[in-house]
Amino acid sequence: MDAIIGGSGLARLAELVVERREVVRTPFGDPSCALSFGRVGQAPIVFLARHGYGHTIAPHQINYRANLWALREVGVKRIFAVASVGGIREDFGPGTIAVPDQLIDYTYGRKSTYFEGPDNPVTHIDFTRPYDESTRQALIAGARTAGEAVALGGTYGCMQGPRLETAAEIRRLANDGCDLVGMTGMPETALARELELPYAVMAVVVNHAAGRGDSRDAISLSAMESELNDAMARVRRILVAALNGSAAAG
Ligand code: HPA
Repeated sequence: MDAIIGGSGLARLAELVVERREVVRTPFGDPSCALSFGRVGQAPIVFLARHGYGHTIAPHQINYRANLWALREVGVKRIFAVASVGGIREDFGPGTIAVPDQLIDYTYGRKSTYFEGPDNPVTHIDFTRPYDESTRQALIAGARTAGEAVALGGTYGCMQGPRLETAAEIRRLANDGCDLVGMTGMPETALARELELPYAVMAVVVNHAAGRGDSRDAISLSAMESELNDAMARVRRILVAALNGSAAAG
């Protein structure tokens, strides 16, 4: 069964016919919300709203460990995540949907591993390629089927938030090689790897990052909001195709 982790603008998935909801408890506390089980087309899926259904949980307060643990607990085999981001690279303007292939983590103070505590031996995971390639390709194939353009890679920089960045911070991220900036990619991506859950993300650009393009002097929050609504219709089409493409292929 596939899972979708929805971010800002995707607290529910209109195409999901919900059959039941389940509150899953974990040794790490409670996930952001009850899990919604149902079908998208033919595909059985489970949906999780990263910020809660009412969008009340800030990026640094999300219990990422509980979220990923709960998904594994209910038998999820693959995760499609959706996240809104700012665009740093010139050609990643608002409305771009990217399937990143790299990330840089700038977050701090988040509970970012399962491998800690007295009963857990220190364990290092390989994270050279942070996203699962076949899951990325499933999203890219879904976009092709849906007739939607996606950027076939890019480096996602994960900032702590919840405030947006300064122009200088974005210059630093650009110098580091970041193409996109968001707040929720880590530790979510690493925890999925720790649990050996194939994971990829669709990053939806809703604004030029601070200091770039029309965000030269300020980021317009209302423009972000309307871009998010426009883009999510396309994201949902891609998800429907990706979920059902893989179901058809077995
Ligand atoms: N920065 C960080 N996170 C974001 C942005 C941004 O500009 N836009 C949407 N999420």
